[in-house]
Amino acid sequence: MSNNIVVAIDGYSSCGKSTIAKALAKKLHFIYIDSGAMYRAVTLYFLRNNIDLNDSGQVSEALKNIHLNFHSRDYQTHIMLNDEEVSDEIRQMPVSENVSAVSAIHAVRVEMVKQQQRMGKSKNIIMDGRDIGTVVFPDAQVKLFMTADPKVRAERRFKELTDKNPDLTLEEVFENLAHRDYADTTRKESPLTRAHDAIILDNTDLTPDEQLQFAIDKITPFLKEA
Ligand code: DC
Repeated sequence: MSNNIVVAIDGYSSCGKSTIAKALAKKLHFIYIDSGAMYRAVTLYFLRNNIDLNDSGQVSEALKNIHLNFHSRDYQTHIMLNDEEVSDEIRQMPVSENVSAVSAIHAVRVEMVKQQQRMGKSKNIIMDGRDIGTVVFPDAQVKLFMTADPKVRAERRFKELTDKNPDLTLEEVFENLAHRDYADTTRKESPLTRAHDAIILDNTDLTPDEQLQFAIDKITPFLKEA
């Protein structure tokens, strides 16, 4: 039987899930998998190829032509869509504005969950997303559910995006986050919700070091058992 450790991190958009996941992976030498990047890469493919989201035939045909790979050389997300690195492009607004609709499609989720479960079969991994502790790895040893004040989250995301998008306003980022929170928590397919055994981590007033230590304290007992 495999005794690898899985750490599942779920939560709202721009709560710093990937920041803490990367830091944990680096510190503990786990593999980091950004499941949101997978939904974003699928969205990019759909946009580029004008896939009609309401046409299930087109969607399932497109899914067959999408091959995703991660290169995790420095604990950053390097995601390859059919051998092309798309790590930057998937963070731009066209993808952010469409990813909620794409990630609500049943066939898309079935395919992504299958790939995610394969990645967590035999290695110690940290995966972040919306349904990792509830659907992808319901038996994960450690589950964190992250949250933070919506205004603080919008300011953080705005800072990340503003260099490459000088016309973007804080209001637009706030609206996009509010829209995604609503869509993520109310969709029919695997809505964002806290697993009953997930530990809440509200980082509104925490420094990166404080939240990292909080998570390490939760994971350490399992390292001793493994
Ligand atoms: O974490 P992120 O903001 O990069 O995720 C992008 C979108 O993908 C987000 O709006 C919801 C969706 N998502 C999902 O439905 N399930 C996941 N496990 C990860 C992301």
